[in-house]
Amino acid sequence: MINEYEIKKEICDIGKRIYNRGMVASNDGNISVKLNDHEFLCTPTGVSKGFMTPEYICKVDENGNVLQANKGFKPSSEIKMHMRVYKERPDVNSVVHAHPMYATAFAIAGIPLTQPIMPEAVIALGCVPIAEYGTPSTEEIPNAVSKYLQYFDAVLLENHGALTYGDSLLNAYHKMESVEFYAQLLFLSKQLGGPKELSKSQVERLYEIRRKFGMKGKHPADMCLNAKDGKPSCHSCGKCEGSSCAPSSSDSDLVAEITKKVMRELGL
Ligand code: 13P
Repeated sequence: MINEYEIKKEICDIGKRIYNRGMVASNDGNISVKLNDHEFLCTPTGVSKGFMTPEYICKVDENGNVLQANKGFKPSSEIKMHMRVYKERPDVNSVVHAHPMYATAFAIAGIPLTQPIMPEAVIALGCVPIAEYGTPSTEEIPNAVSKYLQYFDAVLLENHGALTYGDSLLNAYHKMESVEFYAQLLFLSKQLGGPKELSKSQVERLYEIRRKFGMKGKHPADMCLNAKDGKPSCHSCGKCEGSSCAPSSSDSDLVAEITKKVMRELGL
């Protein structure tokens, strides 16, 4: 089992990547990792996540109470948001919050990322909803995010930023990269006259690939199998007919080809 110090170093490395990619400014953003049901590591409040060392990292319990913090460091002001994700998603082992430029611009404009424009984004994310605005550090953000947690692994925070989570720190971080890349492509293609969207059947084939590979996490590909009124909408919700979406045998070569390409791109 990887030791705690190594995890702290990994948090610092991911902090650097987030900062160096311009996904946060100044002291923004926060990262946490679950050690077990009662212990979590998290970044401290009010420091640049690009210049942390393992000594900066705090430890909290499942309610966000401090278990260990070096002098001068307190857990992130957004710890309640992180803890809500762990509480409602037992499969999640890491949470990342950042303010990537394009994704945050969509969150500010109130435009969710729902247009299917590229296979990788459709497979990795499906679509990305916007959780209603909440005052940072209060229960308002956890409450707003809560209703999306069972259906998505990435959520935009209205007028604020983005939240991603996964079964490992690297996966949670990669989702943040994917959200930002998707938002950037969507923004740019809108400038070029508007994206040419993938068709419903192309999207359904990509969803089928995701199901076939048993990819972990929550995704509209799974949600659509049981779509019901009142669930968050996405570009395929309510249309998918579950197993009857499986492509006919004449499509199988095409699917195999797309699968290979997408899996290569996703590094799987
Ligand atoms: P912390 O430094 O307290 O984690 O807060 C940063 C932030 O981005 C709040 O949304």
